[in-house]
Amino acid sequence: MRKIISFSGKGGVGKSTLLVLMLKYLLEKYKKINILIIDADPDANIADLIGKEIHFKETIGGKMAEFKHKIQKRQIPLDVSKDQIVESEVFDALIEMDAFDLLEMGRGEGEGCYCSINNYLKRIIDVLAKNYEIVLIDAPAGLEFFSRKTGRNVTDLVIVSDPSKMGIHTMTRILEVSEEVDLRFENIWILGNRFPDNLHDILEKDVASIKKNYVKLLGFISNSEEISKMNLIGENLLQLPKDSEAYQTAKELYAKIV
Ligand SMILES: Nc1ncnc2c1ncn2[C@@H]1O[C@H](COP(=O)(O)OP(=O)(O)O)[C@@H](O)[C@H]1O
Ligand SMILES: [Mg+2]
Repeated sequence: MRKIISFSGKGGVGKSTLLVLMLKYLLEKYKKINILIIDADPDANIADLIGKEIHFKETIGGKMAEFKHKIQKRQIPLDVSKDQIVESEVFDALIEMDAFDLLEMGRGEGEGCYCSINNYLKRIIDVLAKNYEIVLIDAPAGLEFFSRKTGRNVTDLVIVSDPSKMGIHTMTRILEVSEEVDLRFENIWILGNRFPDNLHDILEKDVASIKKNYVKLLGFISNSEEISKMNLIGENLLQLPKDSEAYQTAKELYAKIV
């Protein structure tokens, strides 16, 4: 099994939350498995959700800032290529947790810097992914991530939408862009988050109208008081009670992917 699964969608729809639930599911299902989490969303971090504090210096953004500083001070040996250095910085930024590894992309310093980090993302996936059985990516909401063909070897794209016009609009844009730049995912899964039961049919109809055999409706996860509570009290989301309804549903849905 070798899967690279990327979660995307509008900001705030639940990408990071649902990624952590997938991580919980994988850790439970496969006791010994190499998992890498790449947190590529500069606006929030996965580390927060799982109760881990990470400093800017430990992120790819932080390492790159340091690297730039070294170049300016001419502390970089001339016989080493920039790619080699980026590679070693990436390995340096890997955070080893008990049961999985985590890479925080972090923010670039100042305007425009994040794009350059984004440029590295494809290379980072190429360099690192082969060492893991499963890679989960929390993708930035911005579509530049896709237009740079970062997703070329992503096997499964999970597009999350909440019951909002903008959530669904972003989902549609992501589908259009992935088509335009000719990204080939094995599967694109549409996941409705926080949808009340009586509104399922709206998203179901939208997905049915797409008519691409690789775009499938994964299902729905309802609004969960337990998730709100874990978030409010700042509890590690991996500790969400196993019997919580949202987790039970998530498990059933994720079994279709892995
Ligand atoms: N199914 C759910 N039930 C209750 N709260 C949720 C659910 N999904 C997400 N949330 C909450 O919504 C907010 C945004 O979720 P988050 O995962 O950070 O979104 P994103 O990563 O897409 O920006 C968080 O406060 C999270 O706790
Ligand atoms: Mg997020």
